[in-house]
Amino acid sequence: MGSAMNATLDPSQFLLRRLHSLLGLLPIGAFLTFHLWENSQSRFGAEHYNTRVVATLQEMNYLVFVELFVIALPLLFHAAYGLAITGQMRAELSRYPYARNRFYWLQRISGVGILVFLLLHVGTTRLQGLWQPAVRDDLYGHMQGMLSDPLVFGFYALGLLLSVFHLANGLSTMAIVWGLTTSARAQRLFGYVCTALGLVLGAIGIHGLLGFLP
Ligand code: HEM
Repeated sequence: MGSAMNATLDPSQFLLRRLHSLLGLLPIGAFLTFHLWENSQSRFGAEHYNTRVVATLQEMNYLVFVELFVIALPLLFHAAYGLAITGQMRAELSRYPYARNRFYWLQRISGVGILVFLLLHVGTTRLQGLWQPAVRDDLYGHMQGMLSDPLVFGFYALGLLLSVFHLANGLSTMAIVWGLTTSARAQRLFGYVCTALGLVLGAIGIHGLLGFLP
């Protein structure tokens, strides 16, 4: 799928496509993994989470630089180019009703879902903390307040599972596009590895969400 598609791209589009693919894994996928692990520390309570986890990160030198250049800008590029790819999407599902085509669709639909989730999530945490110091100083309490509403909890669980699916499925297609898994057997086996990774990350993420509940 990937190589046939790439054959029709001009060199600059090809490079942008490869950049989009690479950024999905590094740094965005790596950050997502770190972020889920970081938030799984919620289960050790407010004191531990606010002072040992959040405060330690907030005291990091060059934090804004890292947030901007290692997280925000790569994510903005990946999301903008991802939306452009999604806009060009052909209705292939109806023509080829196979599992891989469904995943091709799901990758795009999950991308759009993640975008909505991230805008609300970043807006109500990191950005809100900029003008409300109380939020920044007690992120545990802030998250607990929000997640105590079952609707918000459901929204967070969905955003989290979409992100984890998108990363795990993206990893398996990436390996094909970059020529790492060429045989059907290698693709199937690596698919199992990606599924396992998705399940572990999903479990860590849900565990973290539950850790905020009273
Ligand atoms: C948690 C944030 C995200 C992570 C960790 C992530 C990760 C990835 C990875 C690893 C891939 C595989 C690259 C490949 O197929 O070569 C991918 C593909 C893709 N991503 Fe994301 N992504 C994220 C957010 C988004 C957002 C917000 C959008 C925008 C709508 C998006 C749209 C896409 C699309 C359309 C593809 C498929 C590209 C293709 O098949 O050529 N992603 N993503």
